Amino acid sequence: MILAANFKSNLNRAKAHTYIEALEAFCTQNAIEDRVIVFPPASALRESSLHVKVGAQNAFAARSGAFTGELAQDQLDEFAIRTVLIGHSERRHVIGETQELIAEKFAYYQKQGFEIVYCIGEPLEVREEGNEALLEYLEAQYEGVDLHYSGLVIAYEPVWAIGTGLTPTLQEIELIHASIKERTSRPLLYGGSVKAENAREILALEHVEGVLVGSGALDVRDFCSMIADAKSLHVQKEKHRS
Ligand code: 13P
Repeated sequence: MILAANFKSNLNRAKAHTYIEALEAFCTQNAIEDRVIVFPPASALRESSLHVKVGAQNAFAARSGAFTGELAQDQLDEFAIRTVLIGHSERRHVIGETQELIAEKFAYYQKQGFEIVYCIGEPLEVREEGNEALLEYLEAQYEGVDLHYSGLVIAYEPVWAIGTGLTPTLQEIELIHASIKERTSRPLLYGGSVKAENAREILALEHVEGVLVGSGALDVRDFCSMIADAKSLHVQKEKHRS
């Protein structure tokens, strides 16, 4: 499974580094084999450690240049960053990134062989229109995106569930994930109000291959508890098989 924490614009450099060090220690002590990724703010980027991969929340589609306020590949290379988040709903809806710009970033970082965690998700008014409208909306977010790229990880994050404490029902998550899985075989994460309290039941769902967590992961103990849940689910599944 993949357990990913997106810090967004939270935690400063010192706090993010303390967090990552505590996370690394937890993963070592517990022999964690699942993939653990953190996306700290740009000012706290650093190299990945043994268990904790560090990714960028955003990057401009260029090696370097006149792109005021943006990080480009040169700045990621400094920390050997090879994972980037693209298409996050806050970049789409708060910052105003268009699908065209997102696809440009995707193509650029695919060409460079980066792992891309690509976010998709619908706003509430689309969800209220029903499943057909929802899937159509997601379809438009695949435009210009290579769904078969070997470095791709998809994160389904309903916009209305992000930071609101609301989540779709478990059945709804399963249903949408099954539909997304018909379009791509790449790993599929769920995101949107995942917390230490509900991570286990979400991780146990079919077609959920991990979680992308925002506010619920800001305390490292909570994120570690989700990682422990993922590990115990493997053990349970193994027992079930034998
Ligand atoms: P919350 O977990 O705070 O809802 O945020 C989810 C998210 O946007 C992760 O990228």
